[in-house]
Amino acid sequence: MRKNIVAGNWKMNTTLAEGVKLAEDVNKALENVDAKCDVVICVPFTHLASVNGVINADKLGLGAENCADHKSGAYTGEVSAPMVASTGAKYVILGHSERRQYYGETSEILKEKVNLALENNLTPIFCIGEVLEQREDGSYLEVVKSQIEEALFELSAEDFGKLILAYEPVWAIGTGKTATDDQAQEMHAHIRGVIAEKYGKEVADNTSILYGGSCKPSNAKALFAKPDVDGGLIGGASLDAESFMGIVTAF
Ligand code: 13P
Repeated sequence: MRKNIVAGNWKMNTTLAEGVKLAEDVNKALENVDAKCDVVICVPFTHLASVNGVINADKLGLGAENCADHKSGAYTGEVSAPMVASTGAKYVILGHSERRQYYGETSEILKEKVNLALENNLTPIFCIGEVLEQREDGSYLEVVKSQIEEALFELSAEDFGKLILAYEPVWAIGTGKTATDDQAQEMHAHIRGVIAEKYGKEVADNTSILYGGSCKPSNAKALFAKPDVDGGLIGGASLDAESFMGIVTAF
């Protein structure tokens, strides 16, 4: 069922002690708030088990920021979906533009990751989004459609229904330049249309589509007010409990 969700993506930030403290602060803040959305924090692998031990899973979900495209074996330095699941995490961000851009993650690789995440009962938060050049040359709707088709359209309708999507225009990530609420709505409606064409209206209507890219307490309300924006995937502003809560309470 379609849900409103605010998820933090801590990226490569915080030591273990800092991360546990931040998780505790968010958890505590949530105890005093009647949140109108699901709240998730996606944290570095090294923090997962410890953070899982300090949060109330009924109020705060936990996720990883990535997982390997293999189940196990000789892949030095990689962390598999079963390993992530064994920490108590329930979500995993996949296909983030930073992974695509800096670590060469292709749709073929992402397909494997999505399958392994689903096999291990992890909910993928699957990221898509265009770069500035594609926004400016007008190909952005086509680009995002292809990203979805290439990585996800071999899934059954049942499995597709388990995904959360996150539209993150690359030009808005960490730049302070947010997509306008109308730009976000245009893309989110487009994404829902692409899903409807393949899997039908019901699956499309039930898919949560989050917006990510310089989302802050000051702009979250307007973005979340758009009919096809079901929440946010938050980078920088999720590293401070107060600003993260400012976004959570925008619903
Ligand atoms: P910022 O909120 O820092 O722009 O990052 C967005 C993002 O990449 C979340 O995954």
